[in-house]
Parts: sequence; C-alpha cells; structure tokens
Amino acid sequence: MNTAVRSPIAIEEFDQSYFQHETDEVYALPPACFTSEAFFQFEMNAVWKKQWFCVGRASDIPKAGDFFTFEVGDDALFAIRTREGKINVLSNVCRHRNMLLLEGAGNARRISCPLHAWVYNMEGELVSAPGLKVLRHTDYESGRFTNVFLSFNENTESSLELTYNWDQKDPYEKGQAFGHLALMVNDIHEAVDKLAHSGVRIKTPPKKMNHGQRIIAFVLDPDDYLIELIEPI
Ligand code: FES
Repeated sequence: MNTAVRSPIAIEEFDQSYFQHETDEVYALPPACFTSEAFFQFEMNAVWKKQWFCVGRASDIPKAGDFFTFEVGDDALFAIRTREGKINVLSNVCRHRNMLLLEGAGNARRISCPLHAWVYNMEGELVSAPGLKVLRHTDYESGRFTNVFLSFNENTESSLELTYNWDQKDPYEKGQAFGHLALMVNDIHEAVDKLAHSGVRIKTPPKKMNHGQRIIAFVLDPDDYLIELIEPI
C-alpha cells in the first residue's frame, strides 16, 4: 500500500524558491506554504507527526517540577521533570473544560488547573477534582453495592452517579465499572416521551429502581453515553 503523503503544492513551485549566491537574492517559498490549511496538514503529517524532533533541552528542567510549555501543530504540550527524575511530555489542556494548565516555563509542585482547580500528577493522571461534593452515599446491603452521587453544586439537578460493587475483588477494567450522568426531571414519563419523539434512543423506559422507590429511565446520547433520568422523591 502506498502511504506516501503528497504535498498539495506542486514540487515545481518550490523550484522557484532558493537563494542565489551570485546576486544575494532570496526567492521565498510559494505564498500558499504560509496560508494554506491543506499544506499545513501536509506538513504536520509528512514531518511533525513522523519523526522525533527537539522541543528543548533536558538541562533546562533539572529539578523535579521544572517545566516548559510548547506547541506542536494544534497541540499544546509541556515537558516536566518528575520526582523520579524522568521527563514526561503531557497535554497542556485540562480534560474538564479545555483550559490551558501551565504557561511559559517554571516549576510546578502540582499541576492545578486555573479554572476549577482540578489537579493532575506529573504522569498526567487526574488526582483530585476539588469542589466535587458527595451529595448522597448509600450502601445497599441486599444488592451488595454502594451508590454515590457527586456534584459541584448541592442545589443542582444534575450529578454524577457512581456505583461500587462490593464483590469486585480486582481493579475495574475499562467498560466494567458503572458510572454515568444522572439528571433530575420532574415528570419522567413526559420527559422520555419528548426525547423519544425527537429521536433520542431510550435504553430503559421509566421504571422503579431495583433498590428504592424512585422512578428512573436511561437514554443514550449521540456518542452512546448512558444518561440516567431520575424523578425527585
Ligand atoms: S477547566 Fe480545568 S478544572 Fe475546569
């Protein structure tokens, strides 16, 4: 299979760009090289995504927490020296609302997002999301699971629902665990009818919870994420 990446600007056009020693004249690259989105994508695929390149000097970040930021194409990145002495290159964008995490260069004891203070470790893992409160924590002895509702706002009508199964001995694998967004709606039957009418896929029509009195339903968003609708008691 031919995987060659081709320039959208004909190679002949580059023949016009060179430095003429005799006259000291410089002939610039074709103007489209500086303005064409197609050429930018070509350059990204042919050069930047294909090979190693230098983003800085390791000696510029000698101590744990030393970092510098840089961009490659559309990606905002930073390099940071970890406590173990290695250098990690991580995305400089918060996974919550895409805020830039670090600016310029410096030393960070922890990587804390300036917008809502989510904190990441030097491996890029989320270690805390301050402000997220436990709205409700219920242990269901008969079902052998724990149900927790989390939210940034106690008066909210939306929350994150997480479930922990007591009999799970091993760490959860991706796709095994149970967690989703739960939205409170006053009339669940009316809400589900309206959603179904506008094309939303209904995974579970309104029914009473297995362990409780509330009426719940599950719908799927366009990306197949499960969203729970729940009626207030
Ligand atoms: S955007 Fe980073 S914590 Fe919200």
